[in-house]
Amino acid sequence: MALSRRSLLRGCAGVGAAGATIWPLTASAARFRGGLLSDPFTLGVASGDPEPDGFVLWTRLAPTPLAEDGLGGMPNTNILVEWELAVDDRCHGVVRRGTVIARPELAHAVHIELYDLQPGREYFYRFRADGYISPIGRTRTAPEPWATVSALSMSFTSCHYFEHGYFTAYRHLAADEPDLVLHLGDYVYEYPAGTYPLPGGNPRDHEGPETRTLANYRQRYAQYKTDPDLQAAHAVAPWAVVFDDHEVENNWADEVPERPDPDFLARRAAAFQAYFENLPLRRSSIPRGIDMQLYRRLLWGRLATFHLLDTRQYRDDQVCGDGYKDCPAALDTARSITGAEQEKWLLDGFHSSTARWDVLAQQVFFAQRDSNQGPERVVSMDAWDGYAASRDRITRAWVEAGVRNPVVLTGDVHAHWAAELKLDYADPTSRTVGTELACSSITSNGDGVDVVGGNHPWAAWNPHLRFYNNQRGYVRTTFTPDSLTADFQVVPYVTQPGAPLHTRATFVIEDQVPRLHQIADHPTPGSPSRRATADLGAATMRQETARP
Ligand SMILES: [Fe+2]
Repeated sequence: MALSRRSLLRGCAGVGAAGATIWPLTASAARFRGGLLSDPFTLGVASGDPEPDGFVLWTRLAPTPLAEDGLGGMPNTNILVEWELAVDDRCHGVVRRGTVIARPELAHAVHIELYDLQPGREYFYRFRADGYISPIGRTRTAPEPWATVSALSMSFTSCHYFEHGYFTAYRHLAADEPDLVLHLGDYVYEYPAGTYPLPGGNPRDHEGPETRTLANYRQRYAQYKTDPDLQAAHAVAPWAVVFDDHEVENNWADEVPERPDPDFLARRAAAFQAYFENLPLRRSSIPRGIDMQLYRRLLWGRLATFHLLDTRQYRDDQVCGDGYKDCPAALDTARSITGAEQEKWLLDGFHSSTARWDVLAQQVFFAQRDSNQGPERVVSMDAWDGYAASRDRITRAWVEAGVRNPVVLTGDVHAHWAAELKLDYADPTSRTVGTELACSSITSNGDGVDVVGGNHPWAAWNPHLRFYNNQRGYVRTTFTPDSLTADFQVVPYVTQPGAPLHTRATFVIEDQVPRLHQIADHPTPGSPSRRATADLGAATMRQETARP
């Protein structure tokens, strides 16, 4: 598939190549010899958390990425890394250069936080270590907080289980050249090879055992990051990431593991450390033991505010044994999925927001999804349905604060969904007060099927559930002052490389009208499809409660 000029980002990769500037060695780099025997830039480059004056640049040195000790074949010494920032993709207009030390204590990952850059503009960057030069990344600063912004293109993704397929959707996402990418969790999965085989067998295998130690997690991230499509998506735009469960283990809740495990806190600390090391996060997210500050806010001028939530680290444990249950305990008003402190932070953010669009970028399904047509309310204990009072407090708070356009973004469920959010799900006449867009997985659960008409059987008694599709892909959004357009992007298969991209459905949300208007519905050509019969509901529950 063709990539545009900028997505390839090869313009100044070769020092002295035609049209490129020579990158002079700094004095310290000229004296430095790291003794690296092969290219250490096997994990690509990334940038993240854009502010109006800067962002984070990231890379990690790993000449042998799959090394069992998680150290990527690096010597146990500090390595000098030079970096360069330019305003053009041929590196003529270099605006900043510097050096940073890659340390073995951080698996030779570097996180460079830049300040004093110009707001709302594109930049290009690269790294050099021991004579080797990295691929070039494209990134951008956010607009100034008071700026009137005419458009933002943002794509969001989740759940790329390496064993379940090729990350082709990321190659397509890169070709879109969005301004911003959000990743809503399950960046890696913890399982040893073959734990969850697809019906026709998995196309790829994990290296190493179930991730429990820092070495295991580092090796797992390195394996995922060798994927060229994932690297292309990181190289094209700044990402803002939040973890969900599989970055630690399935369905963990604060200090409670899925199954009894006396070493869980050590596991959680190791998982957080590796998450930080491998993603373009700011210093404010450096883990301290078992704690990591992940929830934060990003502003895109006056157009959009992104409230990035952490619904794992502070949540009460799932009740009634997790899974889909009719569970009165889930309605306990004392329960919280965010913890009190984060909830207050979010509510304060609603009151102070001046954004046209307030986006809750988070992990698990927000709207009620009652899987049972009868009087029993059978819902997912791991999603906001298992923390109904928490959802109710937050929903009422945005209504009371007069948030102009609340939109919830969701990962986790490995299927595309779109929903309208109700003030009270028990009352069918209740006001619609927001919208939810859930992205499918990039690969998790394999090829999937198109669903005729984009209907889910549960929508018959949950009429606020407006769209469902069980193929793999991502959601591409365009924000303007007047509307938010969401394209549900799908690939017809992931167990083979090279799938084409297809826009399965498009919804528009108009300013101050919290409803979903479907403007396109395109069945995927040549793709297997099924009707929304009752057994699709059972399959959905199986898909969500089977661990990947
Ligand atoms: Fe997942």
